[in-house]
Amino acid sequence: MTVSQSETYRIADLGQSLLNRKIHLRGWVRTRRGSKGFSFIQLNDGSNLSGLQIIADEKLENYEEISKLSTGAALEVWGTLVESQGRGQDFELQSEQILIRGTAPGEEYPLQKKGHTLEFLRDIAHLRPRTNTLGAVFRIRNTLSQAIHRFFQDRGFLYVHTPIITANDAEGAGEMFHVTSLDLEQLPKTKAGKVDYDQDFFGTDVSLTVSGQLGAEVFALAFTNVYTFGPTFRAENSNTARHLAEFWMIEPEMAFMDLQGMLVLTEEFLRELLKECLDRHEEDLAFLQKMYDQELISGLKHICDTPFETLTYTEAVKILENSGKSFEFPVEWGCDLQSEHERYLSEVHLGGPLNLIDYPKDIKAFYMKQNPDGKTVAAMDVLFPRLGEIVGGSQREDDGESLLHLMREKGLPEETYQWYLELRRFGTAPHSGFGLGLERLVQFVTGMKNIRDVIPFPSSSPAPVATMKKN
Ligand code: 4AD
Ligand code: MG
Repeated sequence: MTVSQSETYRIADLGQSLLNRKIHLRGWVRTRRGSKGFSFIQLNDGSNLSGLQIIADEKLENYEEISKLSTGAALEVWGTLVESQGRGQDFELQSEQILIRGTAPGEEYPLQKKGHTLEFLRDIAHLRPRTNTLGAVFRIRNTLSQAIHRFFQDRGFLYVHTPIITANDAEGAGEMFHVTSLDLEQLPKTKAGKVDYDQDFFGTDVSLTVSGQLGAEVFALAFTNVYTFGPTFRAENSNTARHLAEFWMIEPEMAFMDLQGMLVLTEEFLRELLKECLDRHEEDLAFLQKMYDQELISGLKHICDTPFETLTYTEAVKILENSGKSFEFPVEWGCDLQSEHERYLSEVHLGGPLNLIDYPKDIKAFYMKQNPDGKTVAAMDVLFPRLGEIVGGSQREDDGESLLHLMREKGLPEETYQWYLELRRFGTAPHSGFGLGLERLVQFVTGMKNIRDVIPFPSSSPAPVATMKKN
């Protein structure tokens, strides 16, 4: 077989069966070092962490150029896969031809062999996917995305694409980004001095969605079990290491399921996702553990092996009050729980995963099923050690009168929710659902402290997303 007929492989797919075969690889130089008569090139194509060592002999016709290659250059390589002489790898490629597709001048290329801080990497978001850390993070993010679809597809859930632009505030919290085609410098006004949305593209005030839930409820009341998986947007004023303005959310919605049924499903779901990562990402997780969190893998295994505890909000508040800890935000019944409280409960008090249920209705969204006590709703938050809230959900209020009552209490504009109320008039049924923030999950699995390091482009990066005012 001539060199040009060699089959193309991804580095992660190389194995014993290809030993002594001629193959073709493509990728980017991680490091190159010269030795007498040779160059050793570490090539990475994104398929795994370690890449492959390429041996380039000085007899190669373009050895002069090869010997000057530096980190970042793009190559195509043909050669024979052989057992490695050196330590730390099983195979290497004895190259017979190297085509230099693109060089990366060493003095200018920002990624050098020495480690860079994650903060520095956020400013070069167009290059950071080529680093070991971001490589591991995005391979795991990909595995999780696929495992999420498989979990639901295996159980007969219908994948539904809910709208991105919407007139409904699904959470009723007013944290939406408005979408308009009007000229903001010259807004048309009504006689009453308000913005005249009649002249806008949709003829009404619309925004980017904060959740696909309300649309998913429509579909659950026709297909029984459904899920959405898409981008969501929140103009929350919380610039923390766990909040993004644009993030991806997975929202299953199940008809004929109550809160208790959902607790079982959620636990099975999260456990299966973590198991998949442990099974498929040994190398990536070992690297992340070494770099960022000594207890990463044991922490993931612990969640897989530990049944989730369930506490009511009322019990949790008692535990926090009796903890003897002075929290930054004081605790009393009725307050919203902060990340410090959530972490105390799951990390210190239980040392494991926790379902927190039955929150006060005043601090939760309008759509949650009201409990007979008149004070709480059938809400569920799943809290993980190290992270706090990873999942938020509830049984839904399926009684039209109660729903309308709570909407009025919360001062929501009834007109835009007429269709939602109508679902309670025509074939209403108990139903429940939850939302899992994809980035929170990726954070948990990879041990990344800042959520900006698990999305492709953090909003503070120059390209290709909008820059946030303060970051
Ligand atoms: O608790 P949340 O606000 O619940 C909902 O949106 C419901 N409609 C879900 C449902 O019942 N279908 O958000 C759900 C999850 C959170 O637990 C968190 O993991 C994630 O979405 N999340 C965020 N992730 C990153 N940045 C933000 N700003 C987030 N806000 C929520
Ligand atoms: Mg929540």
